[in-house]
Amino acid sequence: MSVLLQTIKLCLNRKPYNTSYCKCFSFRNKSDNSKRFITFDEVVAQRRAEAQKSLVVQVNSESSFNELYGYCSKYATVNDVHHYKNSNDEHYMLIEFSSEDNMKDVLQACSAHQKDVDIMSVQSPFLWFRAAPGAKEKFPASNKLLAVKHGSCKIDEDVLFDELQNCETVSHQLQLLYDQTKLNDMDVRLRYMVARQLEVICSSLYANIAIKPFGSSVNGFGKMGCDLDLVLTNIVAPEMMDSKRRLVFQEKKCEGGRSPWQRHMELVATLLELRAPGAARVTRILNARVPIVKYSHEMADLECDLCYNNISGVYMSELLWLLGSLDSRVRPLTFAVRRWARACSLTSPHPGRWITNFPLTLMVLFFLQQKRNDGIVLPSLKYLVKMSSKEDVRIAEENLNCTFLRDLNKLPEDSYSQSKDDLQTLLFQFFEFYAQFDFQDKAISINEGVPIRKPNALPLYIVNPLEQSLNVSRNVSFEECERLKTEVRNAAWHLESVLDGKKTDDWGLLGLIEKKTTRSLKKLLRVGNTHRLVSVKDLFVEDGEGSEIKKLKTDEDIQD
Ligand code: CTP
Ligand code: MG
Repeated sequence: MSVLLQTIKLCLNRKPYNTSYCKCFSFRNKSDNSKRFITFDEVVAQRRAEAQKSLVVQVNSESSFNELYGYCSKYATVNDVHHYKNSNDEHYMLIEFSSEDNMKDVLQACSAHQKDVDIMSVQSPFLWFRAAPGAKEKFPASNKLLAVKHGSCKIDEDVLFDELQNCETVSHQLQLLYDQTKLNDMDVRLRYMVARQLEVICSSLYANIAIKPFGSSVNGFGKMGCDLDLVLTNIVAPEMMDSKRRLVFQEKKCEGGRSPWQRHMELVATLLELRAPGAARVTRILNARVPIVKYSHEMADLECDLCYNNISGVYMSELLWLLGSLDSRVRPLTFAVRRWARACSLTSPHPGRWITNFPLTLMVLFFLQQKRNDGIVLPSLKYLVKMSSKEDVRIAEENLNCTFLRDLNKLPEDSYSQSKDDLQTLLFQFFEFYAQFDFQDKAISINEGVPIRKPNALPLYIVNPLEQSLNVSRNVSFEECERLKTEVRNAAWHLESVLDGKKTDDWGLLGLIEKKTTRSLKKLLRVGNTHRLVSVKDLFVEDGEGSEIKKLKTDEDIQD
């Protein structure tokens, strides 16, 4: 019954559509010279620097702020404090200090858990704020306020759907979905803290080690709660490669059949188990094509995948981030498509013979490279390579050339965002484009920006942008590709009716991103219908004469 009560409450508290979403629905004004594209490296450097001077402290509740702030201020200057709660209802404060040295002064003043003294406490950036022994120390009320309260809290789905229902246009729906579900500042900070924790722990054994987030946590297409992909690598300073230096570190030769990196990953997995507070359920998958260590970070509520030296994965994230930054319609459109694919079960949280978010994102980018009446939205990767210069040269593992233009300010203004179509038009055109796409003979390549001939008979061929001989969707079965074709056609039909002006219950984006069962439940629970709901059983179709519950009611079962 609590679902019902909650829904009624939501309906009664429904807020009118927030028109501020309309304002941010416009793409970058090219004539505004004050706006400058920043580079991916600048963003990463800033996030890493933030993490290097931050700590995450478990507290009693958000009202511990004043006491914690007062206590820390005795040792160091606090920049900002961000509060969040994890799924175990534990409260944490992420504190950013004014410098790394400042933060280290606080670490110097930490103590060990009394019971851990005999097994060596861990100096990771995750701490705990103990209740004051004896009389409570009095701290003057500070004029500093929490920068963020409940920072990593996802929007309630019912609230989101209500807001989407109240939007004026489908374009506003797309913008709202993006604004309300993208990773926020707190979540990004936390992801860099989890990376930092492992870096600190490993750096006592490995000099120059770096643990870097990649994938949707940093490529601009991540939604709240997405997995955290991490890569373990090392930063080699140019002087380390100087052949004139005569004293050279002796090499450690690994014995036994397994490759050295497999053994390093084994060790890192053990360190996660023994030395990383919060890390749990560590799983080693080291014989796979891309070997990984999976673990959950319970304090940060994150599922982490750690791999070794996959630098091309980081460059791939950079490429996606750059294309997403170039035009403000790219990310909202991609969010809508990813969400639609999830709702119609084209994607799944589990790996299998279906498409995943990464190739789906490439499909959106490829669509935006197509020439429409007034031109393209995004340039091809070939063009970004052509525009690159010496400082853009990057060579990843296995000699993979990952060179492309990094500084978007160097792109001629007429080489992108030529098409001025709004988001709803683009979404409709996306479905139309793929409803007519020749999957049989053609491959999708963001390098070329136009369909190319398929080199083999696999059902879906999406060229890996950084390793063009590979197909990133080689796992997709014939049946799944057929389903993809059917669903894009259905989506195009659905949107066509909305763009014709009909505004139904599941109008616009709602009809694309709401699962069928959810839609049925909502229909039953609508305020007007609640008098018909006697018990939770009303939500199910019963099996013949008996009372055995068979299945959730569908739209067809619920007649108004
Ligand atoms: N990647 C790649 N080649 C592939 C698959 C993945 O280079 N064949 C890289 C991409 O940079 C991708 C990252 O690995 O972004 C992480 O892959 P994955 O977790 O599957 O995708 P995400 O983009 O992180 O999306 P999600 O939110 O579903 O995790
Ligand atoms: Mg991921």
